[in-house]
Amino acid sequence: MNHPEITISSCYVRNVFMKALSVSVLLSLLVTIAEGNSHNLVQCSQNIALRYFTARTVVVSHSNFITRNKSHYDHCHVRSLKLAAVKDAKPSCLQEDTRKLLMKAIYQTEKWPLLVLEAQNETPKLQNTPIKHGSYMLLVQEDESAVEEVKFQMQKLKTNIGWNPRAKYIVMILQTVITPNNTLAKDILSELWHSKVVNAVVLRQTSVSKLNIYTSFPYHPRGRCGDIRDVVLLDSCITKKERKCHFLHSTSLFPEKIPRDLYGCPFIVSTFEYEPFMMKRKEVSTVDYEDGLDRRLIRVIGQTLNTTMVMRPPPQDGSRWGFLLENGTWVGVTAEIMHGYSDLALVGWFYRCHIINEIECSFPYLIDEARWYVPCAQPYPRWMSLTRVFKNSLWLGFLTAYVTVALVMWQVVKISNRISTKPTENQSYTSLVKCLLNFWAIILEESASNNPPHVAVIRGIFLMWVLYCWAVNTVYQTYLTSFLIDPGLQHQLSSEEEILRSGIAYGIPTTMVSILPGLSDNRYRHKLRCDDVEICQHRLATKADLALFFTKYNNEYMAALKYMDGDGKPLVCQFDGSYYRQYVVIPVPKGNPMLDAYNNVIRLVHQAGLIEKWWKDLKYTATLSSAKDFNLPVGEYIKLTLAHLQSAFYFLFLGYGMSIMSFLSEVLCRHKLIVPK
Ligand SMILES: *[C@@H]1O[C@H](CO)[C@@H](O)[C@H](O)[C@H]1NC(C)=O
Ligand SMILES: *[C@@H]1O[C@H](CO)[C@@H](O)[C@H](O)[C@H]1NC(C)=O
Ligand SMILES: *[C@@H]1O[C@H](CO)[C@@H](O)[C@H](O)[C@H]1NC(C)=O
Ligand SMILES: *[C@@H]1O[C@H](CO)[C@@H](O)[C@H](O)[C@H]1NC(C)=O
Repeated sequence: MNHPEITISSCYVRNVFMKALSVSVLLSLLVTIAEGNSHNLVQCSQNIALRYFTARTVVVSHSNFITRNKSHYDHCHVRSLKLAAVKDAKPSCLQEDTRKLLMKAIYQTEKWPLLVLEAQNETPKLQNTPIKHGSYMLLVQEDESAVEEVKFQMQKLKTNIGWNPRAKYIVMILQTVITPNNTLAKDILSELWHSKVVNAVVLRQTSVSKLNIYTSFPYHPRGRCGDIRDVVLLDSCITKKERKCHFLHSTSLFPEKIPRDLYGCPFIVSTFEYEPFMMKRKEVSTVDYEDGLDRRLIRVIGQTLNTTMVMRPPPQDGSRWGFLLENGTWVGVTAEIMHGYSDLALVGWFYRCHIINEIECSFPYLIDEARWYVPCAQPYPRWMSLTRVFKNSLWLGFLTAYVTVALVMWQVVKISNRISTKPTENQSYTSLVKCLLNFWAIILEESASNNPPHVAVIRGIFLMWVLYCWAVNTVYQTYLTSFLIDPGLQHQLSSEEEILRSGIAYGIPTTMVSILPGLSDNRYRHKLRCDDVEICQHRLATKADLALFFTKYNNEYMAALKYMDGDGKPLVCQFDGSYYRQYVVIPVPKGNPMLDAYNNVIRLVHQAGLIEKWWKDLKYTATLSSAKDFNLPVGEYIKLTLAHLQSAFYFLFLGYGMSIMSFLSEVLCRHKLIVPK
């Protein structure tokens, strides 16, 4: 039974007891119909809520401006009391009444926390903890601006931190005229779909006692890709005489709407080239990459869901993953997801969902590490081998012993000569210089020029010195051999503290600072921005004058691919202890209905150990490709080269140089030396 012509204000409904004041039969009839509208809506919504809502907060959203406009409220109220002037009644009164009835109905069930949001008001700062809302009820007045109204309410709801697009939505259309027009329901559902809301039903009255429940399926029939073109009548609420509401059928009002097979629907992926996640951009008209961890994962997701993955070109400004600008806007891939330009991003994206409300994250499919990379230690220069065997203190001790023993010998020989009755046999230890030279010969394992005198004390000292030199020499030569062959490595930076203290330049990419706010600390004030990580990696590996804070997977891959020396040793080193472990996830715009499907794929891929296998494969391939430049020695033994004996030759030339100089000075100064004779 339709009443397309009857326009009525439900202000009259506000108070059921006001019915008694009805003065005419007509008015009484109008009141019943309008009251029926609000009442049926509320009854039906309450029924749906009892059947489907979870225990979480129920949000009632409306755009009622009455509560703000006191005079309007009074006006509405007075009208309802007077029961007059039906024709110019304001539709907003209808909202006010329905809202009150609804809140009463929800409140009386005592089942859910209730939150009432008015679109006109400022965003309430009620919730500090991001506990997501469980369900929403939207009140919308049926008129030409109804869709705008929904859009506006959604915008307001989204600013709330507990906004949950996966919740169940009931949109209640408040009618002043009852018509069988479905266009509005479709438009509203389509508008909700723009906000990624899928689980929504629209309630609309089609006759006095019948309320239809509509929904829509964005991916149905097969081949339709997230496009709402029609609505489906799911069920109807029938109001019986005793004002109770019953469902006509018992179909599920919130069925699964995302099919398992999407029949090739296109999905837009934000990405850019970043080893080892996305590698080697193909030279084709569309954007695509040849390989990479994420490239393989996308392929699996695409195959599982039967979707076509369309890759976006890399972010124009080169900001890659993106970071927070000082004026509060995000850039890069993160911004693309936030604004919904793409459906997902796959590029080794670190978990940031705790700081960005507009993004949701999948399960992690990888755990990356952020850590310091430092230049590898350089070997000691080989020319130092001869002297590096002993520490300076030992050299000093040796020298002291040498001089002391020479002095002692000299004195002992002197005293022995003085007290001796026999004439001295030989003169070889009678002066300090002679002692020093003789003992020097023993150090170098030469025989001393003459036998020492046959005096027990002198011979004793001589023997002691010979033994001492024998021991020291043996040790020295043993060590010298190993130093000549392998001079060892200089000290390598081995802690963050050391990096900061050593004065070496260090780079921290801005994107890392945005995830780890601790890095913007004063402690790291001298950091370089390193926005192009590759340049920094190159500098680290080739010039070795930079430490870099970056992620494990990329750095290890780049090291395997590019930064190996001729002996197959890495040019980029690390020390124990990672700074931070990071979850690598797939970010999607908040509410993306595909998230569960992605999570399923990730779980399976993870359980199969595929990610780990892919990573090993990729690294192995990279090592192979760089191995063609290696010149590894065959076998364990190496031939000594001139380089190994560098230090010996240097000392030889030093000696020759000094000999030549002394020879020249002798030649030049001969006259001076001879003349005085
Ligand atoms: C308040 O309501 C009255 C009555 O409907 C209306 O005339 C007035 O313009 C409203 N004021 C505002 C600020 O909306
Ligand atoms: C249904 O309502 C829409 C506006 O919501 C209007 O544009 C359309 O003409 C109406 N259709 C009918 C058949 O009344
Ligand atoms: C995947 O989608 C295509 C249409 O793009 C369809 O022809 C094909 O049958 C689907 N594959 C599966 C396994 O359902
Ligand atoms: C922030 O700055 C960037 C460039 O510096 C600009 O593109 C963007 O529009 C700015 N955003 C706001 C909200 O001012």
